[in-house]
Amino acid sequence: MQLFLDTANIQEIREGVRWGVISGVTTNPSLAAAEGIGDSGSYKAAVQEIADLLDGPISVEVVSQDAAGMIAEGREIAEWIPNPWVKIPSTAAGFEAISVLSRDGIKINQTLCFSVNQALLGAQAGSTAVSPFVGRLDDIGQEGMELVAEIVSLFRDYQIDTKVLAASIRHPLHCTLAARAGADIATVPYKILAQMAQHPLTDAGMTRFLADWEKAGSA
Ligand code: E4P
Repeated sequence: MQLFLDTANIQEIREGVRWGVISGVTTNPSLAAAEGIGDSGSYKAAVQEIADLLDGPISVEVVSQDAAGMIAEGREIAEWIPNPWVKIPSTAAGFEAISVLSRDGIKINQTLCFSVNQALLGAQAGSTAVSPFVGRLDDIGQEGMELVAEIVSLFRDYQIDTKVLAASIRHPLHCTLAARAGADIATVPYKILAQMAQHPLTDAGMTRFLADWEKAGSA
C-alpha cells in the first residue's frame, strides 16, 4: 500500500518526502484554507511548490458544484503541474465531469465517496482512484473500513483497475487496517505519519544499546 500525505503544508510535505516514504499528496479546500489559501491563484502557487518536492500524484480539488464548472476547473488544474489528480466529488454532476475529464486523459481522484454504489459509478465514469472517507463514516457510527474492504473486493472480482485510496484517516490503526483491507493507497495527515514511525520499545531499545555501548567504552 502506498502512502500519500494528506496536507497542503509545505513543511510537512518536505519532511515526509525526506523520509522517502511518501508517494503522493492529497489536498482539499479545507486543508488549503488551513494554510491561508483561499483563491485559485494561491492554490495553484502552493500546488506548484508541492510539485517541486515530489514527482508523485498531487490531488487538487475543484470547488464548482456543476459539471461544466468542474470540467473547466479540472482542465485548468491539469495544466498546473506534471502529475495532477483532479479531485471530483461523488455526485451526479461529478460523475459527468469525471467521464468527460477522464476521456481527455486527465487523472481523477473521486472524492467524498461514502458508498459502494458511488465507487461503482465513479469506476465506470473513469476515476483513476476512488477515495472512501473512513473517518467521516466512523463519525456517524458506520464502520468506515468496511467500505474500503467492500470496494477492494468488488473491484478485484470485476477486475476494475480504479485504485482504492483510503481517505479521512484519523489514527495509525486506520492505516494498518486499510493495508489489511487491500487499499492501494492510504492518505494520512502528517501527525499520523509521525505516529506510525514511533514505538516505545524502539526508543527503549536505542536507550539501552547506547548505555551498553558507553559502559563498554568506559570500562
Ligand atoms: C483526502 O483526500 C480527504 O480530503 C481527506 O482525507 C479528508 O479527511 P477528513 O475527513 O479528516 O477531513
